[in-house]
Amino acid sequence: MTKPAHTNSADSPFPAGFLWGASTSSHQVEGDNHNDWTVWEEANAQRLAAAAQQNPSLPPHVRAAAHDPRNYISGAAADHYHRFATDFDLAAELGHTAQRFSIEWSRIIPEPGEIDMQEVSHYQEVVAALRQRGLEPVVTLWHFTLPKWVAARGGWANARTIEYFCEYVRVISAAIPEIKFWLTINEPNIYSTHGYLLNKWPPGQRTFFNYFRSQMNMAEAHRRAYKIIKLASPMAQVGIAHNGVYFIPSRNNVFDKFAVRLSRWWNNFWFLDRLQGHQDFIGFNFYFRNRMHGFQVRNMNERVSDMGWELYPEGVGRVCLEYWDRYHLPVMVTENGLADANDAHREWYLTEVIKSIAAASHSGAHIIGYLHWSLLDNFEWAEGFWPRFGLIEVDYTTQKRTIRKSALAYRDIIKSMH
Ligand code: BGC
Repeated sequence: MTKPAHTNSADSPFPAGFLWGASTSSHQVEGDNHNDWTVWEEANAQRLAAAAQQNPSLPPHVRAAAHDPRNYISGAAADHYHRFATDFDLAAELGHTAQRFSIEWSRIIPEPGEIDMQEVSHYQEVVAALRQRGLEPVVTLWHFTLPKWVAARGGWANARTIEYFCEYVRVISAAIPEIKFWLTINEPNIYSTHGYLLNKWPPGQRTFFNYFRSQMNMAEAHRRAYKIIKLASPMAQVGIAHNGVYFIPSRNNVFDKFAVRLSRWWNNFWFLDRLQGHQDFIGFNFYFRNRMHGFQVRNMNERVSDMGWELYPEGVGRVCLEYWDRYHLPVMVTENGLADANDAHREWYLTEVIKSIAAASHSGAHIIGYLHWSLLDNFEWAEGFWPRFGLIEVDYTTQKRTIRKSALAYRDIIKSMH
């Protein structure tokens, strides 16, 4: 097979400057946040712990943690807000060349019209610390958490939030104009499904109208943020972190095939289609292969994570190809990983994922980065702390970091690519 023009040498399927690294988000690791999620956690921790006690499908090694109501309060999290520099030392030691993180909107604009310049400086320091260690920053502007005042005014269901978000984007894009890679919004489809249909996350409203309207508002917010960032730095590359699923039919019949086409269009493409002309690359997070049996998902589940999610590493490369074929824009894997407290599957999973990306690249897809979820163990939203996604383990009592074996395997893969 002939090599695609965007790859760097005869041996490596990855283009020069390929980003190897990991991701985090502010609320999940920083600690001491005050936003709509912290309010929701206080109101729901007891209920979530009680539900976990009734859940027989939790693996035995996570039960004690999941049954404790404190598991559901983000609190000090991984204290990354104070420990970012030493955490980035570890990332650099692990051979990473990039780090995705998010800026916490509620820190920057805690009250309407009030910009906290100290918090702006904090994130400037975060960016400088990454650069000093040779890590390319990939900045997310919104990863699921709203300032309380924005939530009180209706959050993403209210079109005024578009303007509030743009104000925040203006502040940040002017403060760190040297950023090359921006992600405006993380997984709008997942957010709206959990917040407005399933009642699993704030705002917990369950209205189809707001499910739809929140996504339309986020699409408009992205389009406007794109222009704001480009005005501040024309060379910046701007995208979103979408949620991409690999759908296949469970049977060779017209119903399952139809379900695959419709699900793929709705989950993978509908939102991104609204951003055409306002994206420089396609960022996507990959966790799921859905084998459609009509509109039910029936997976093989040969290997599953601690959360019961099927591990299907080949799906990553497949979705890269789907995005490349549809949009012909560079593709970045902005998240991919597994909850695996015992680090039993992570090395195998990572190795297979990277093979699948290499195969997609050989087939012609232009892929520019792979960012594993996550650098650190973190607060997994309504599941709290028990799911362990980190390349680096966090002891939440002492805040001690321990590098997992799989992180060393990832380091060796990265090294072998240079
Ligand atoms: C989100 C992360 C989350 C991860 C694992 C993605 O949906 O962007 O915040 O921790 O998946 O569930």
